[in-house]
Amino acid sequence: MSEELENLEKQIEEKITNANTLDDLNSIRVEVFGKKGLITNHLKSLTELPENERKEKGKKINDVKNKINTLLQQKNKNLSDSEVSQKLQKERVDITLSTRPYEEGKLNPITQTIAEITTIFQKMGFETALGPDIEDDYHNFTALNIPPEHPARQLHDTFYLKGKNNKLLRTHTSPVQIRTLEKKKPPLKIIAPGRTYRADSDMTHTPMFHQVEGLCLDKDINMSHLKGCIMDFCREFFEIDDLPVRFRPSFFPFTEPSAEIDIGCFKDKKQITIGNGGSWLEIMGCGMVHNKVLKYCKVDTSKYQGFAFGLGVERLAMLKYGISDLRSFFDSDIKWLNNFGFSIFENIEKI
Ligand code: DAH
Repeated sequence: MSEELENLEKQIEEKITNANTLDDLNSIRVEVFGKKGLITNHLKSLTELPENERKEKGKKINDVKNKINTLLQQKNKNLSDSEVSQKLQKERVDITLSTRPYEEGKLNPITQTIAEITTIFQKMGFETALGPDIEDDYHNFTALNIPPEHPARQLHDTFYLKGKNNKLLRTHTSPVQIRTLEKKKPPLKIIAPGRTYRADSDMTHTPMFHQVEGLCLDKDINMSHLKGCIMDFCREFFEIDDLPVRFRPSFFPFTEPSAEIDIGCFKDKKQITIGNGGSWLEIMGCGMVHNKVLKYCKVDTSKYQGFAFGLGVERLAMLKYGISDLRSFFDSDIKWLNNFGFSIFENIEKI
């Protein structure tokens, strides 16, 4: 190789070794291979040589060119790698630092219990439906086969809104059945949690409380579907596989036949324990949806029938979590909430 070419190669090699950034490397590339670059000039000068020398020199220049290209590529990789790692280093988050202290709130057991109930029914294919707290007479009573003058109206201790055209605070979640059927056609399976109101206040009643309503309509639905569904629910909710569940004949205007559901328990002077203890506890009402209700909702009763049920959330929460005073749910006592409330994270894990 001619001395000149050798020196040039060394010179370029040195430059590449000393390059610190990708920008430096790019300048070297231009300096060497650009239009007026060092190697480009050499290649151009070939045309001035006689043919026999041209071939030999051309090969040498090409070798140098390839060598430099390889060096440039290697250096390029090294520099990009180190630029990435520098960037990562700069943006590094120190995960060993402890978090800022924060105060964790607690979920009221009512919120927790509603989440548990709706989750169990959702797993059975029920969708959640909601209705308004302020209802009218038609949805709360009439369409549920509770006509004016019906004695059941007295039992409900209704809060009427003054001068509001028969508006009232719903006394149960059953009107959500009607509102859902006004919007959707069967087949359907819905669960409707929400607040309900009755003018009643003592050890075992609060003027506002919570219910969960259920409605399942389809072709060929019968009482055994209702029984299976409710038994599964009770056993899963109380986490007792062989929990006794009893259906006791009863009366509700919106179902026929109707039943009240009792679960097994053990009662002694001090407390009630859920399970196979020979005693019974009433926990909810249910039945096959009354034909009159279906007709109010314009459901084709020659095709569809189904079941409904309604339960009180406070009662289930008290039984499951050993809470003895109903009023404590609504006292907003932070000490009580810290004791009986649920961590939101614990809740997510459970669900
Ligand atoms: N609405 C009833 C109440 O508040 C509970 C109830 C009973 C709902 C039977 C139903 C049902 O859907 O079928 O006491």
